Amino acid sequence: MIMSTSKNDMPKHLAIIMDGNGRWAELKGKNRIHGHSYGVKAVQEVVEEAVQLNIEYLTLYAFSTENWSRPQEEIGILMKLLVNTLRTELEKLLENRIRLNVIGNIQQLPEIVQSELEYVVEQTKNNKEMTLTLALSYGGREELANALKQLACKVKDNLISPENIDQSIINEHLYTQNLPDVDLLIRTSGEKRISNFLLWQIAYAELYFSKVLWPDFTKKHLHKALISYQKRERRFGKTSKQLLG
Ligand code: IPE
Ligand code: IPE
Ligand code: MG
Repeated sequence: MIMSTSKNDMPKHLAIIMDGNGRWAELKGKNRIHGHSYGVKAVQEVVEEAVQLNIEYLTLYAFSTENWSRPQEEIGILMKLLVNTLRTELEKLLENRIRLNVIGNIQQLPEIVQSELEYVVEQTKNNKEMTLTLALSYGGREELANALKQLACKVKDNLISPENIDQSIINEHLYTQNLPDVDLLIRTSGEKRISNFLLWQIAYAELYFSKVLWPDFTKKHLHKALISYQKRERRFGKTSKQLLG
């Protein structure tokens, strides 16, 4: 099957768990860090291809709340890599009219990372071609716990009554309040788990698992995932017949 490039056939929101950098490097007898820097090249290729394909929202899992328990050295280098990449990529984001957005517990990130992110988010805020969201220090359970905390405070202050709490109000208290639900979730490196990513937002996402390690993931692999997505029937609880009618 050939991939349809019609905007209607594309996932409006594509999310990716970029996994396998460490194993990629270890297979080459190199330090894990080497894998992370090659992972950046894959990010660049996938971001550019996603814009070309008219995908409106691309969300990348770059660092989880659980990743804080990795060795300090690895965390430090990942943060440095992030700052350097943001600096060098700003021009390309502007050129491709990409808006940068960030989700996660941003206050936990080093000051320098926070200020770099703020700068790039501000510089790209009027771009309309695609919203690129980086999930940094992000955990789905923490996001839900925060939303519940905010709602509980509002109930206590008589700003909302408990009867009015529904799915859309919960949505408005998530980091992803301005993003649509995920249509397609890709995870690389052969792992078949969610690892605390966008738990609420993937309720009806199509899942695609690729064995390719993230630094080896190219636009060709992205196309394969999109073809698989386009072959699926998304029923959202209905019957096939209802979808035709
Ligand atoms: C994904 O690759 C990048 C981050 C989680 C930051 P990993 O670093 O998890 O690589 P593996 O899974 O150990 O191979
Ligand atoms: C998920 O990958 C987090 C990111 C890709 C940023 P991990 O490598 O941290 O997940 P687990 O530990 O294999 O579940
Ligand atoms: Mg991993």
